Amino acid sequence: MRNTAISLTALGLMAFGWTAMAEAATPVTKVSVDTTKPGATIDRHIFGQFAEHLGTGIYGGIWVGKDSPIPNTRGIRNDVVTALKALHVPNVRWPGGCFADEYHWQKGIGTGKRPVTLNSNWGGVLEPNTFGTDEFMDFVSQIDSEAYISANVGSSTPQETAEWLEYMTSEKETSLAMARRENGHPAPYSIAFLGIGNESWGCGGNMTPEHYTDEFRQFTTYAKNYNPAQTGDKRMKKIASGANVDDYNWTETFMKNKGGEVDALSLHFYSGFEQWPPYQPASGFDETQYAKVIKTALRMEELVSKHSAIMDKYDPEKKVALAVDEWGAWYAQTPGSTSGFLVQQNSQRDAILAAVSINIFTRHADRVRMANIAQMINVLQAMILTDGDKMVLTPTYHVFKMYVPFQDSKAIPVSYDAGTYSHDGVTLPRADIVAAKGKDGKYYLSITNIDPDEPLEVDASILGFTPKKATGQTLVAPKIDSINTFDKPNLVVPKAFSATAKNCALTLKVAPESVTVVVLE
Ligand code: AHR
Repeated sequence: MRNTAISLTALGLMAFGWTAMAEAATPVTKVSVDTTKPGATIDRHIFGQFAEHLGTGIYGGIWVGKDSPIPNTRGIRNDVVTALKALHVPNVRWPGGCFADEYHWQKGIGTGKRPVTLNSNWGGVLEPNTFGTDEFMDFVSQIDSEAYISANVGSSTPQETAEWLEYMTSEKETSLAMARRENGHPAPYSIAFLGIGNESWGCGGNMTPEHYTDEFRQFTTYAKNYNPAQTGDKRMKKIASGANVDDYNWTETFMKNKGGEVDALSLHFYSGFEQWPPYQPASGFDETQYAKVIKTALRMEELVSKHSAIMDKYDPEKKVALAVDEWGAWYAQTPGSTSGFLVQQNSQRDAILAAVSINIFTRHADRVRMANIAQMINVLQAMILTDGDKMVLTPTYHVFKMYVPFQDSKAIPVSYDAGTYSHDGVTLPRADIVAAKGKDGKYYLSITNIDPDEPLEVDASILGFTPKKATGQTLVAPKIDSINTFDKPNLVVPKAFSATAKNCALTLKVAPESVTVVVLE
């Protein structure tokens, strides 16, 4: 329900120097977009993805095997590749997650029978190691993305990581590089990112921040990329395992004592619940549950701000990025699903959650230069759900597609006060609006109407640019818990949208609980 205290909104508008609005059923939100003051680059890597050996994220979701009746290229399903290519996925983090700190890469290479191991973190299922390094690199190449390899720190040695990198990146005739050639890959791979451990405070070794910082220094010393093409800007970037949610001591300790090459420090934050374990249903929820979940997601703003402030103390030039390399909604186990497989549906609520999270990253673009939603397929807040040969794109997928023009764009300052939306004691901002100048020179405006009951009318003044037209797409749904299913895959899909552009102003109206992206031309 929209906050009926309209005067609150009006007060906010006056504070921004606008004239008080007239009392109306749906107040018009005044927005100012200042194209004369472009900010930081919105790194395309904030749209990164995460694919772990967990449930059917890899086996079934990506890999079906060369002999599968499901159309595939060298074992990788074609429908998924086509869908992901449209997202311009900048990087894929693999093989975990918790799985990474029990992964031994040598078991996942070669043309012969590979060892079968246990996936102790996720359901205790058998891991056939069929999808290993070469298959992952093939997948990354098929979707035109880049590799973010997560190295095992918790149960392995710097030597294992060093040898993995030698296998992947050396052009010399070492035995490991020759093994890669024998496995069908003569040229060295390009590894854009290397994660040194995952959740080293938990499943990655239960370390103290002091201990992990030392481990990082040791691992990074030997983690060498030999690919001669990876120099300068293309150099492999190293990402340290960072804090769990609000563990500011972890960030402080690492930043204070770090050594060796460090390009980013990670942060993991899952939303959807206030306290572990996750309990909200992924579908079939009511408005109170909607509001509560979105509130948890908005906490990202506080977390990113506070971790960034600590990083600013030790790194005022912002050389070290904050990489939110696990984020997204984590709901209660889907009834009837396998325990530990983290299967969950994805609704219009997740579209809103994705948009507000991405918007937070863009507002912190100077420090947040990487993020990976968890996870890509069939696990947690997925882009894609599959079942056998069936595939469906989720509302979250559509948000990522609508935001493609924001990749490597320049953040443009936006100011507004849309007031608040309150329901059952939960109060949220009514809207979330961001703007950017795309690589194509066009301006993009993204408007998320968080309010599930009232449309949002926007009256935007564009400083420094006179748009002649404003068109785009809007993602709306019949209900807050609407989902796409294999039977009804197009219930929540973007629809064409247009706004009225006149002189330097733009007027538009978006539906309740919707995400809209318009391009100004
Ligand atoms: O994404 C699922 C799990 O969440 C990851 O394996 C782990 O890093 C985190 O706790």
